[in-house]
Amino acid sequence: MDFRVERLFSPLLSGRTDRVRVMSITQNIPENEYHVPVLREEAVGCVVNDTSGVYVDGTLGGGGHSEALLERLSEDGRVIGIDRDAEAIDSARKRLSRFGDRLCCIHDRFGRIDAVLDTLSIRRIDGLLLDLGVSSRQIDAARRGFSYSKEGPLDMRMDGRSGLTAADIVNGWPEKKLSDLFFVFGEEKKSRQIARRIVYMREKTPLESTTDLADAVRACTPARWHIKSLSRIFQALRIAVNGEMEELADCLVKIYPSLKTGGRVAVIMYHGLESRVVKRYFRGEEPSFTRSELAFGQKRFDFRSLTPRGIRASESEIRKNPRARSAVLRAAEKRGG
Ligand SMILES: C[S@@+](CC[C@H](N)C(=O)[O-])C[C@H]1O[C@@H](n2cnc3c(N)ncnc32)[C@H](O)[C@@H]1O
Repeated sequence: MDFRVERLFSPLLSGRTDRVRVMSITQNIPENEYHVPVLREEAVGCVVNDTSGVYVDGTLGGGGHSEALLERLSEDGRVIGIDRDAEAIDSARKRLSRFGDRLCCIHDRFGRIDAVLDTLSIRRIDGLLLDLGVSSRQIDAARRGFSYSKEGPLDMRMDGRSGLTAADIVNGWPEKKLSDLFFVFGEEKKSRQIARRIVYMREKTPLESTTDLADAVRACTPARWHIKSLSRIFQALRIAVNGEMEELADCLVKIYPSLKTGGRVAVIMYHGLESRVVKRYFRGEEPSFTRSELAFGQKRFDFRSLTPRGIRASESEIRKNPRARSAVLRAAEKRGG
């Protein structure tokens, strides 16, 4: 894959762009329907405090939330859109080209947000928005291996350049480690049976496709649970492959010193583990995630919650976009300096 650095965001760049990959060259993606943004207006309403500020959209995806942010901000307002998926960067950048250098697209991980801001010579930001997980485009592309209902390779990497694939985990991890993974990240009650079945199957021949894994899950769960168990097992593997919990904890901890007083963090979450991390972070605790262990340190952060009960999608949004069903938005404002 070929990368080039683009000086799109000239007012915020100071010539130190070499460490951040700003753009990638990939195949053309039809620009319609990349991903329907969830809780679009609510998220932007929560995160914007100063319309001429600098905001980070850490999960750019198809650019739906960045677009809403840029529409809400004044001409002086800027958005830095980060995504670890080169295809998302390509697509959003093309779709949002009308905003010129008010949008800077960065191909990187939000867990490296400190390095990204440093490279752009940005010391303080007004807000951070995260819409966690994968986009509809990623799920729908069979070749990426995210979906149990589409035959494809067991890959699941959001950034396909390097790192463990789901096949590496399924065929390489010991049974106990697999079962813990399914239990912790997937909250799957049949975790042990599924891990045992995978080990039994891979002794004959390695599991290579999403169908191979789905067959293993179906073989040891009751038919009425198939869809739930498949979703949980695929979710658990995706979280492990992409280090999603480490990324979330790193980003939240690293962004705090760069947030202005009155600056805001808004996170759209889709499962219980993400929720636990974000809730306790907003209460001031420092999250960390190492060796599959979620831990919280002493109170270090000072936030005022803007969404004490979380915000969920309306029935009408869920009807139009079923993906919104499990989404919860939480936001908080920094009080301390
Ligand atoms: C739910 S989608 C975001 C959709 C976006 N809000 C929109 O309106 O189109 C999540 C996106 O975040 C990206 N992503 C997930 N984890 C990431 C990480 N640690 N760093 C950067 N991007 C990440 C995924 O590649 C995906 O494109």
